[in-house]
Amino acid sequence: MTDQAFLVVGADSLVGGGLVAALRRRGHKVYASTRRSETLNNERVYLHFESVEPFRAPEGVNYAFIVAAATNYDRCEKDPMARVINVELIPRLLASLLEQGLFVTFISTNSVFGGDRPWPHEDDLHAPGIAYARQKSEGEDVVRAHAERLGAMDRLNIVRLTKIMGPETSPLPAWLAAWRRGEPIEPFRDLVFSPMSVQFVGEALATIGERRIPGNLHLSGAENVDYVAFAEALARRLGVDLALIKPSTAVDKGVNIPFKPRFSGLGMARTSQLSGLQPQRLDQLVDDLVAARGN
Ligand SMILES: NC(=O)c1ccc[n+]([C@@H]2O[C@H](COP(=O)([O-])OP(=O)(O)OC[C@H]3O[C@@H](n4cnc5c(N)ncnc54)[C@H](OP(=O)(O)O)[C@@H]3O)[C@@H](O)[C@H]2O)c1
Repeated sequence: MTDQAFLVVGADSLVGGGLVAALRRRGHKVYASTRRSETLNNERVYLHFESVEPFRAPEGVNYAFIVAAATNYDRCEKDPMARVINVELIPRLLASLLEQGLFVTFISTNSVFGGDRPWPHEDDLHAPGIAYARQKSEGEDVVRAHAERLGAMDRLNIVRLTKIMGPETSPLPAWLAAWRRGEPIEPFRDLVFSPMSVQFVGEALATIGERRIPGNLHLSGAENVDYVAFAEALARRLGVDLALIKPSTAVDKGVNIPFKPRFSGLGMARTSQLSGLQPQRLDQLVDDLVAARGN
């Protein structure tokens, strides 16, 4: 056990779960926040962004990751409360944690760059399109303003992520079920992403937390791939006949996809230089997904 204690705000999220697991694997003391009051225990503390009760970090915690957010694209478009959460309440909590002396990570997203520029640098200008991306971009600005006001820029980093995949992330369970029945899947050729595994993101965030690196940082897959290329990599790894992949498009299928970037991957030059972290290759992602499925 090390003397660093971490708080993960939003431990029930996809990213938060991977991060808590990675920190614990490394022997750190970890407190996990949740709004599911029936699950509280010594290491699971209550935190609801909409609660009026001020939040005090548990004794001994000197680093917090703010992972939770209003993440649903549709909710961000339609529910004014999503913007309040992402742009006001989360930055306010972050400011309070800075005031309590913690180092804080604010988790953001590749979508703040809009998707028209390949491999944006950590300090590039934003060009958000959809409401979710606009809110995360504004949230970054408010967080930075709080840290400047508090003279705490050296205790803040903003870590932007590309798409995260776990074994239960759509469309994986449906694809695997179809392949088990010997039926084809129809992945989209017109949907590009730069995916990383939950395990990779958890470990990379843990490294960033241990090294307390301030400023803007990126975690990304190493390639921009469409869902057909991803399906082929997965099929090869599992020994599934490539004939069970019938390429399609979201347009042909009439599926409305709100965020359709031309380029999804994030440039990691600054991050790699300061942390040694490298983007995750597609074959490593597939290995992680297959390993997690076996657990
Ligand atoms: N997933 C991705 O591919 C991806 C890509 C880029 C960036 N990100 C960023 O990574 C972070 C985590 O994303 P995710 O996909 O892992 O999230 P997620 O699985 O959608 O989970 C969101 C979490 O936020 C919590 N939450 C929502 N509103 C809350 C509130 N008012 N008070 C307290 N907790 C609240 C939810 O609690 P409940 O569990 O109780 O509902 C949930 O655990 C987000 O900041 C997101 O913008 C994610």
